[in-house]
Amino acid sequence: MSKLAVDGGQPVRTKPLPSVADISGRDLGEAELANLTDVVKSGKLFRYGGKYVEQFEQGFAAKLGVKHAVACTSGTSAIHTALGAVNPDVGREVITAPITDMGTIAPILFQNCIPVFADLDPEYYTMLPESIEAKITDKTAAIIAVHLFGQPCDMTRILAIAEKYGIPVIEDCCQAYMAEYEGKLVGTMGDLGAFSLQQSKHMTAGDGGIVVTNHDELASRAALFADKGWPRTGEVRDYLFLGINYRMNELTGAVAAAQMGKVEQVVERRRSAAARLTSLISDVPGVNPPKERPGCKHSWWLYAITIDEERIRVSPKEFARALAAEGVGAGHGYIGKPIYMSPIFQDQATYGKSRCPFSCPYYGRNVQYAEDDCPNAVDILRKIITVPCNEFFTDDDINDIATAIAKVAEAYAA
Ligand SMILES: Cc1ncc(COP(=O)(O)O)c(C=O)c1O
Repeated sequence: MSKLAVDGGQPVRTKPLPSVADISGRDLGEAELANLTDVVKSGKLFRYGGKYVEQFEQGFAAKLGVKHAVACTSGTSAIHTALGAVNPDVGREVITAPITDMGTIAPILFQNCIPVFADLDPEYYTMLPESIEAKITDKTAAIIAVHLFGQPCDMTRILAIAEKYGIPVIEDCCQAYMAEYEGKLVGTMGDLGAFSLQQSKHMTAGDGGIVVTNHDELASRAALFADKGWPRTGEVRDYLFLGINYRMNELTGAVAAAQMGKVEQVVERRRSAAARLTSLISDVPGVNPPKERPGCKHSWWLYAITIDEERIRVSPKEFARALAAEGVGAGHGYIGKPIYMSPIFQDQATYGKSRCPFSCPYYGRNVQYAEDDCPNAVDILRKIITVPCNEFFTDDDINDIATAIAKVAEAYAA
């Protein structure tokens, strides 16, 4: 057995993996450049008067088979726009996931609502429908279902609960472009879907976002919310309700429109890479490849393995460190701790010293988040070892990752 690189041995891989080698990891080229040149030459960088943001909105809506899309500046602003469209009263609760990006939660706080966290499925890492239902109160205003790592949530059960209690569902699809739940694309099942175009996403414009919906009224409210509540009709300016400027500009729209044409291919290439890696490591004793929910298609934003700690005598964190030393990249625990353990929730660090919305008199309840509120989430973060999964990986790259996983597993085998 060869010595582990972490102990001074020769690493499995010395050449950087493609996503590391070219820093970007994204497929950007002639199509994006052509659109950008066109925009700059036109002199019109503002979406009104330009054409690319509109092209992106119409094309993305058509791709998903939904009636409306509203482009905006980020995934965070897409979720905020979706929630702004739902228009919850101040001091209401929004149920969401404890493992996610802060971009899922900040909009809830900015709308002066209280985030409530449903625990996660220990196998698929998505929100447990029974935990969602247990957290519903007379104050619940919305559910934000996060398709974490690209795995679709259990939408049949979530939608049934939402319908039973009359609660709107926003799908957070930031990590899940083109992921499918029983033949339906994520983002098309809830009342609204929200996507991010941040650098690490399946399609990118550096930053950017888009909201989709089939509801005419929600679409109209979303468009207004992202444009300061301004309908841009009539002779004088009217601001119909409290909105903000989340408008996408034409430079971003130019890149987004070109990226949109590549996203299926990107996701397909990730699916092949993930399938190959899973088949190569399935027989490695003590290593558990990620599980895909039956009837679904994952989009593999993140590929996370776990180890059987009875068979492999090292902590997941040490395993990840040893794997990274083999030159294939690896991480431990994604966000490290449930999001509600961050200072913003523990110190209620929001608006000045007010602690609003946590202390909001319209809410009138005490809010405290404790680590074991979502025990499965804690355990998931402790055990997951993230492995790179990129659309540029060749079979050889994936072979190297699998070899490194097998090498580390064998070295620490009981
Ligand atoms: C699940 C999830 N939700 C929301 C966001 C927020 O997106 P953005 O970073 O574009 O604001 C992200 C992106 O990091 C995400 O992964």
